[in-house]
Amino acid sequence: MTERPYVIDEMITAKAIAARIETLCREIVAEFGDTDKLVVVGLLRGSFVFIADLVRELDLPIEVDFLEASSYGDATESSREVRILKDLRGAIEGRDVLVVEDIVDTGHTLNHVTHLLASRNPARLKSIALLDKPSRREVDYRADWIGFDIPDEFVVGYGIDFAQRNRNLPYIGKVRFT
Ligand code: IMP
Repeated sequence: MTERPYVIDEMITAKAIAARIETLCREIVAEFGDTDKLVVVGLLRGSFVFIADLVRELDLPIEVDFLEASSYGDATESSREVRILKDLRGAIEGRDVLVVEDIVDTGHTLNHVTHLLASRNPARLKSIALLDKPSRREVDYRADWIGFDIPDEFVVGYGIDFAQRNRNLPYIGKVRFT
């Protein structure tokens, strides 16, 4: 398959991301300050850079776990089914949990994952997404913390891919076809 050529325009700098993470972490610490141990759950694969930076700014006792979900589009996007490809290693019943996502787009993924995790009876369950595209929403879902609201653009970098590429960019860029 030949790839359509594109360039990447910087949208959110690495410095702006780092500054935003500091602010978010102060709020998360205020929320979970009394936790005995917070389970930070990264959604693979897009959140791996975000979760790495986030946990290093979180002055709390934490554990890290990962979950991989995949959504398959059929003819109508709104009937998308979310599947769990890799579940958590640990139990979360009675635990404080923070789910970490790269982008909320239609909302199906985080909506499905948080309902699934809530059914396991955690003590507290919160979610954070680095990016949100509110104009794309198909289900009524808003993460508890959002790094940046962005317009309906296809973005890459800072862990986020386009056909598995560009995850290693240190900033968020938007894809522009040339
Ligand atoms: P949702 O279920 O539609 O909210 O989808 C969220 C997932 O779609 C994210 O975790 C990403 O994997 C993917 N996604 C949504 N928008 C973008 C984008 O602009 N670039 C790359 N991946 C995206």
